[in-house]
Amino acid sequence: MQPDALIDPFGRGITSLRISITGQCNLNCFYCHNEGQSGHESQMSAGHIANIISTAAKLGVNKVKFSGGEPLMRHDFEDILAAIPEFRNVSATTNGVLLPKRAATLKSAGLDRVNVSLDTLKPQTYASICRCSENVHSMVLDGVRSAVDAGLTPVKLNMVMLKGINEDELDDMISFTRGFDGDVILQLIEPMDFGNYGGSVDMDIIEKDLASRASDVVERKMHRRKKYMVDGAEVEVVRPIDNSRFCANCSRLRVTADGKLKPCLLVDDNLVDVGRADIQELESLFYKAVSLREPFYKG
Ligand code: 5AD
Repeated sequence: MQPDALIDPFGRGITSLRISITGQCNLNCFYCHNEGQSGHESQMSAGHIANIISTAAKLGVNKVKFSGGEPLMRHDFEDILAAIPEFRNVSATTNGVLLPKRAATLKSAGLDRVNVSLDTLKPQTYASICRCSENVHSMVLDGVRSAVDAGLTPVKLNMVMLKGINEDELDDMISFTRGFDGDVILQLIEPMDFGNYGGSVDMDIIEKDLASRASDVVERKMHRRKKYMVDGAEVEVVRPIDNSRFCANCSRLRVTADGKLKPCLLVDDNLVDVGRADIQELESLFYKAVSLREPFYKG
């Protein structure tokens, strides 16, 4: 018998899992929301991660995104990928630093595509955002190229729009994106304030500008994100803040690095521990976490 689909009390079906496989990161970006974790928690084994993902697949999840921390900090990421069932869409969000060495092996292990965090094309600005040395920037650019070469495409560049820091680089980032002939998509992200970030950037102005230059505009069902085609480059805009339509269309459940199902990125008091659960218990814990889901921004 088919198990019941995962549908929350607000009628939102869960089809996507975002799983943090480590809290550790080799960068220290000043605005980072850390996926709501400290980086010091214990990690789950590859086998346990595979069990969690297999359970999600059984309950109708068809998309999995690995995150961190920095997911490539795990040397067994390839093993994790090899152990999970077939999915329509397996991706990872990475800072790209370790991609030059791993892009090809990750692809053969089953990774379909990556998001690479890249807020700037200037090494100095990169160093001040990520609090690292300037030469890291060229490693990340190599990472983007390696991902494209390995076929981890489309590669999405996550550009968090930071007031007074990288706002003036939008056109340069669009040109950079265009240079990859459709293998790279630029994703502009509205920064969320987790107490470590003060200024806010006016996304309305950015969207108006894109809209006036776009040859085509498409609205995605997931989160109702808008995509703009600008001179042959695809630019997506992610605006979660005060956006009830963003929440109304959320189909995502999160898993923290220490093994807790997290119904919403912005809520910390309703986590469901699956860190020690055996495979028989996992299914009912998924239903429990989904029953706790509530839109953070309501209409
Ligand atoms: N606001 C918005 N996005 C953030 N990210 C991290 N911190 C924040 C924040 N405060 C996003 C970046 C990065 C991904 C891992 O998480 O886009 O690429």
